[in-house]
Formats: sequence, C-alpha cells, structure tokens
Amino acid sequence: MMTSWLLGRRGPSGFSWSSTADQVTEGISAAGLTAVVTGASSGIGAETARTLALRGAHVVMAVRGVPAAQAVRDRVLAEAPGARLDVMELDLSSMASVRAFASQFVARGLPLNILINNAGVMATPFELSKDGIEMQFATNHVGHFLLTQLLLDTMKKTSRESNVEGRIVNVSSEGGSGISALSLPPR
Ligand SMILES: NC(=O)c1ccc[n+]([C@@H]2O[C@H](COP(=O)([O-])OP(=O)(O)OC[C@H]3O[C@@H](n4cnc5c(N)ncnc54)[C@H](OP(=O)(O)O)[C@@H]3O)[C@@H](O)[C@H]2O)c1
Repeated sequence: MMTSWLLGRRGPSGFSWSSTADQVTEGISAAGLTAVVTGASSGIGAETARTLALRGAHVVMAVRGVPAAQAVRDRVLAEAPGARLDVMELDLSSMASVRAFASQFVARGLPLNILINNAGVMATPFELSKDGIEMQFATNHVGHFLLTQLLLDTMKKTSRESNVEGRIVNVSSEGGSGISALSLPPR
C-alpha cells in the first residue's frame, strides 16, 4: 500500500493520492444533506467544505477563525452562488466552546447527516488547554470526542427520519491512526 502511495498508483477505489476532491465526487449529489466540517477555515477542511457545498450539501463550517472561514465561504459563493454554507464558531481545545457550539447547532433544529472531524494541530510546543489538558490531545481528540457525543442524537434522529445512513469521518494521519469513518444506519 505504501509503495502504491509513493508511486501515485490508483487504489481499489480507482483514485490515488493525487486525485482531487472534485474528481472523487464527480457526478455525486449531496443535495438534501447537512454536513458539519471542523477546521473548515483552511487546508483540507476548507476544500472539504467547498466540495460538499458544490455538490449541494448544506455545510456548517465549525471554526476557530471566523474571518478566515468567511473568506473561504465567499470564495465558494463566487464559484457557486447557490451554495449553502454557514460559519459557526468552535474552539475544540475548550470544552465550554464545544458545548456552546453543539447547543447552538441543536437549537437551530438542523438535521445532521455528515460530521467531519477534520481540525487538528500537530507537534505543538507543550501547553495546557483551558481545561488543563495537553493542547494537541485536547484539540485533536477530546474536543472531537465531546463534539461527536453532543451531536450523536441529532445524527441518529436525522438518519431515522430521512432513512439515509449518517457518516462520521475522523481525519487523522498515516503517522497516527489514519482516517476512520463510522456509519450510522437508519435504525
Ligand atoms: N496536510 C497533510 O499532509 C496532513 C497529513 C496528516 C494529517 N493531516 C490531518 O488533516 C487535518 C487537516 O489538516 P490540514 O493540513 O488541512 O491543516 P491546516 O491547514 O493547519 O488546518 C487545520 C485546521 O484546524 C483548525 N484548528 C486548529 N486548532 C483548532 C481548534 N482548537 N479549534 C478549532 N479548529 C482548530 C485550524 O484553524 P485555525 O486556522 O484557526 O488555526 C485549521 O482550520 C488535521 O487533522 C491534520 O492532522 C493532514
């Protein structure tokens, strides 16, 4: 697998490391789906939010840097004026912020089909979060764990009511545990 990756060969999916999000989602409609993408203000999260929105999903960009996320949203809207993206503040290193985000999201009464836990920091200097947890662990793991817990009932309800399987994607690293995805069948 590692050799295929290095040589850029296509895997069983027909795609490789050099495939773009546009190519991977070509011909797939996300219309009628609602997605939360953490860390959508830059990098992989911004491109994920853009692609989901271009394919028709309602995307909630859950971000620490609101102005940067608004700039991303503006760029997507320039490309696709009908795209639906909202920016909501979320600092994953603070449990209070995660709770505030989740309660605001639930209060909006939105469905939730897809949760992409993408935000992350790496190899940061030692620092404790407001809650006294090592910052990288607090951001990448504890914050996303709490966020997922707080949004799970909404995801289950959406899956039951729409009869569409929900999906939680945890973006990680080949140096760690890789990308994991959990499906929520409509039961
Ligand atoms: N790019 C790669 O080659 C690579 C390789 C392995 C794994 N990954 C993983 O892929 C994911 C995305 O990486 P990327 O390359 O796109 O990195 P990136 O451009 O640095 O984006 C990381 C995002 O996470 C956000 N973030 C950081 N701390 C946060 C917090 N406390 N609360 C909310 N958001 C926070 C950042 O927001 P701010 O702009 O506010 O800081 C930023 O939007 C990460 O989980 C990373 O570990 C990437």
